[in-house]
Amino acid sequence: MESGRIQNLRTDYNYSTVPTKILNDNRLSATAKGILAFLLSLPSNHNINKKDLPKYFKEGYYALNQAFEELVKHRIVHKVEVRDKKGHFKGYEYVVHEFPKKRFGEQKKVLPSRNFRKSEILNPDDILINKVFNEDCLITMSKMPDNYVDLVLTSPPYDHLRSYNGNNKFDFEKIAVELTRIIKNGGVIVWIVGDGIYKGSETGTSFKQALFFKEYCGLRLHDTMIFEKNTTTYPSKPDGIRYTASFEFMFVFSKGKPKTVNLIADKENRWKGTTNFGQKTDRDENDQLVPVKKFKPIPEYSPRTNIWKYITGNGYSTEDKFAHQHPAIFPEQLACDHILTWTNEGDIVYDCFAGSGTVLKMAKQLNRKYIGSEIVKEYCEIIAKRLQP
Ligand SMILES: C[S@@+](CC[C@H](N)C(=O)[O-])C[C@H]1O[C@@H](n2cnc3c(N)ncnc32)[C@H](O)[C@@H]1O
Repeated sequence: MESGRIQNLRTDYNYSTVPTKILNDNRLSATAKGILAFLLSLPSNHNINKKDLPKYFKEGYYALNQAFEELVKHRIVHKVEVRDKKGHFKGYEYVVHEFPKKRFGEQKKVLPSRNFRKSEILNPDDILINKVFNEDCLITMSKMPDNYVDLVLTSPPYDHLRSYNGNNKFDFEKIAVELTRIIKNGGVIVWIVGDGIYKGSETGTSFKQALFFKEYCGLRLHDTMIFEKNTTTYPSKPDGIRYTASFEFMFVFSKGKPKTVNLIADKENRWKGTTNFGQKTDRDENDQLVPVKKFKPIPEYSPRTNIWKYITGNGYSTEDKFAHQHPAIFPEQLACDHILTWTNEGDIVYDCFAGSGTVLKMAKQLNRKYIGSEIVKEYCEIIAKRLQP
């Protein structure tokens, strides 16, 4: 019998209740009902290991395993996949609820793509560095070893707002697990996304994705930044019900603490050079307030806020007029600012939804190595043009 922690989620401490619905359920064997009654009789939140079940029953391993699987099949016991922070599969846990529950989202299996054995690629740099792949990003990532990329800077298709020649659907969970695998320890993913409006209200897709990266993939949500635009295609009307939407989220995830952070200090300080804000004090070892002797003047510039504003639209996001054949490019300056913040020269920058190639172009200009995936052939042609020397 395979191992796996069994957790009992009983709501009452004094009674072990087995719903009559389950006792009368002819699909379950007597052994399955017995296992359930036993598990529910354990103290609430008590954990035992599945492989220890035979210690408590007369039945043998095989019969118990069969009966346990009946409980899993009928969703009385929930089988949950356990993964480490890198997304590697570590085994299963079982949660026993007092009453059958519907499947939770997090119980779905999400396996990294394995259609191309990464370990077989001896020199991944030779086939990946400074290349753009006209294919599903899952295929590109399956060629990458673990802990390979320094920065993923990308903007996925969101909520059917654009069609991208019919490529606005993608396997988000698989891609998130793969991105987690391929970034280095201390590497960063910047995920730029907004929400569509469905039946008059926001879908919340951006939040769901952010929580998946955090809760399921085990990445740190390092910062939730805002990309503010000066213009919009859909300004609100006086008789409308919502203010003009003028921003997207820039979720910054990291695998552990970010290894590279070069904060852009371009916020000019109004009181630069001055020190005369009164006497600054600090506490000494006796908790007494004492004047601070070395009082540094306010610097000329300080790091900017996490709300970044750009002039967007045709002719502003890029001077490459032909690039606007792509319907959703983001500003070159935005890509530049993230690349400078989270990487150093020579680092690898990957855009799994390369679109018109904005990220790749800026990575090249800033002496970083780039890798791109873009599923639409016509967009790859735009990228090739933008990457020309
Ligand atoms: C929002 S756009 C990216 C725009 C890009 N940031 C730019 O500045 O041009 C998303 C792109 O992802 C592409 N795409 C969608 N699913 C994909 C997948 N599974 N693999 C690779 N590219 C995909 C779409 O064709 C689209 O061009």
